[in-house]
Amino acid sequence: MSEATLPDTPVNIADHGAVRLITVNRPDKLNALNAATLDALDAAFAAAADDAGVRAVVLTGAGSKAFVAGADIAEMNTLSPVQGRDFSLRGQRMMRRVEKLSKPVIAMVNGFALGGGLELAMCCHLRIAADTAKLGQPEINLGLIPGFGGTQRLLRLAGRAATLELCLLGAPIDARRAHELGIVNRVVATAELQAETLKLAAQLADSAPLALRGALDCINVGGECGIEEGLEYEAAQFGLMFATEDMREGTGAFLERRKPTFKGA
Ligand code: COA
Repeated sequence: MSEATLPDTPVNIADHGAVRLITVNRPDKLNALNAATLDALDAAFAAAADDAGVRAVVLTGAGSKAFVAGADIAEMNTLSPVQGRDFSLRGQRMMRRVEKLSKPVIAMVNGFALGGGLELAMCCHLRIAADTAKLGQPEINLGLIPGFGGTQRLLRLAGRAATLELCLLGAPIDARRAHELGIVNRVVATAELQAETLKLAAQLADSAPLALRGALDCINVGGECGIEEGLEYEAAQFGLMFATEDMREGTGAFLERRKPTFKGA
């Protein structure tokens, strides 16, 4: 396992084989997202996108209490309206990068995922939560609204009723309720969270990278267009798969009753 910290940034990076672990590292502030952290995350995800050796990403928060407890309230307290809009756009841009990454990203929700923390988890492709985690959009209690895509992604993930409840009332929910609402994919015991998440990430890292990318692209496009356009896009991506060695390998391995080895070619 190689490990490196981005210079002067509150984000840590560690590679576990082809799985990149990105950790928000401000545990004394429950990993709250200030502008510097947003920029460090943006850089970390850009680097993961460009590194051919990275085939899956896990995102988590340092310490035992929080994934991310929100945007940095101290930093926001003094912002002007223009600065507030810029802060929102900064977070939205970074989270859009994560959502559109052509490699799977798993949020390992190890504690509080509140406000910007839930928004960060929701831009990831899969979410695994510790059974002790608490999730919510409490911005209303600060005289604010979600500003990093929360009103939009929660609506698409969990529907109108749950989104209205979380955003208007501002009360956190526990991991099991988040699972019932479809906000998280799996809930596991805290002690097993890291092992279970890395196991799932390793499975994704062994999977066919170009097929993963095709599926992610189709699902991203499909979430934002009509069914006809989405189906056409899917058919084009499906056709493209037949140009890959991995498709010959995957179908060939099935027919030969052996395990496939995918290369991303
Ligand atoms: N922004 C900035 N600092 C934050 C923060 C945030 N979103 N969330 C926590 N912190 C800081 C606290 O100010 C405190 O710093 P300090 O020790 O220098 O005073 C430190 O992190 C620990 O938090 P604390 O509140 O003492 O922990 P707790 O266990 O008592 O409570 C929470 C945990 C998550 C319930 C509480 O921190 C909280 O409500 N945070 C804000 C959640 C929120 O509204 N998020 C949306 C922001 S838009």
